[in-house]
Amino acid sequence: MAKITIDNTGATVEALPGRSLLLSLLNAEQPVHTVCGGKAGCGCCRVRILEGGDKLSPVNDPEKLRLGPEKIAEGWRLACQTHTLRDIVLYLPIAEELDSICSKK
Ligand code: FES
Repeated sequence: MAKITIDNTGATVEALPGRSLLLSLLNAEQPVHTVCGGKAGCGCCRVRILEGGDKLSPVNDPEKLRLGPEKIAEGWRLACQTHTLRDIVLYLPIAEELDSICSKK
């Protein structure tokens, strides 16, 4: 099973087959954030892929809309829209970092 390593906490969790990074992180009780429940509506679940970005599902239209081209070019993805079958390393923002970018609607 593929592994998701969270660079800034040192945690490594299993990527659930066929499930989003969000669900894999939540399943492993990692501090990933969501307001919309995984519908690409809040942007709170964003993670920055540090290694293995080429192994992920392609960036989809809701991600393009929510993140914009600059963030995508920097490696940011919506965990709720992203799947992996291979090992990856990511950065998981802390709550304070998300205050200005996470829609609480
Ligand atoms: S959980 Fe809201 S955008 Fe991913």
